[in-house]
Amino acid sequence: MTHQHRTGFRRFLSWVRHRAIGVQAAMKAPRLSVERSEWTDKAQPGELAFHQTDQFRRSDEFIANSARLFGHFGFAATDYAGRVVLDLGAGSRLRTRYFEGARIVAVDPLAEQFRVLDFSDLDTAYEVHATPAEEFLPQWEGKVDLLVSINVLDHCYAFAPIVENVRRYLAANGQALLSFDVHAHTDPLHPLILKPKTCRAAFLQNGLEITHESKGFGGDRPYRYYGHPPYAVNFIVRPALRT
Ligand SMILES: C[S@@+](CC[C@H](N)C(=O)[O-])C[C@H]1O[C@@H](n2cnc3c(N)ncnc32)[C@H](O)[C@@H]1O
Repeated sequence: MTHQHRTGFRRFLSWVRHRAIGVQAAMKAPRLSVERSEWTDKAQPGELAFHQTDQFRRSDEFIANSARLFGHFGFAATDYAGRVVLDLGAGSRLRTRYFEGARIVAVDPLAEQFRVLDFSDLDTAYEVHATPAEEFLPQWEGKVDLLVSINVLDHCYAFAPIVENVRRYLAANGQALLSFDVHAHTDPLHPLILKPKTCRAAFLQNGLEITHESKGFGGDRPYRYYGHPPYAVNFIVRPALRT
């Protein structure tokens, strides 16, 4: 077998494996909530350990990677200058620092543990909240111009209140970029199984109009670091009733 044949065969096997994962994920019933204690006791310690040792967020590649991600969805770095960007599940380093001059509101239940990590820039945010996405921050009701949540929603413990909160945060002309993984199975760090169909229904029920829906990041974007390829889904939503 020539080198070319071997490469082609490996690509074929990888394609078959991804298709199989996709089919498994499609067959699995959604799991939209778990006991909060399961999330506190299992998911959050695992999450902290992951970020403490993560090399990607320590590297410059993180900045370039985040810029590619936002650029892919049509967001320019200056689009939110002087406006409010809420980073829901911000993690240990801010992807949303991409948005020059924006007031970044970082929300992550592990914020207090993350902010002391030597590479963390959470303290450059306008506000940092050590709060899960399921809890609402009333001071930001109707004031958020862009809400960003990258690779977070499947890590949470209850999907329904989060969708409600997203709607309540958004300003009349605001929008939200929600990107997360659709899993075939749960594991300690990923307690929820979110299916696009269920998400669409939840968005509509909460007065959110879907302006964009896609899978993965297109052929031009490597999946690496954004989640668990190729089953990341992306939604851009905005309030359905615009004033
Ligand atoms: C894979 S990291 C992604 C972090 C960041 N968005 C990024 O792209 O670098 C998942 C993040 O979700 C956060 N998370 C887990 N459960 C959450 C919840 N209920 N509410 C908000 N964030 C949560 C974790 O603490 C962790 O920082």
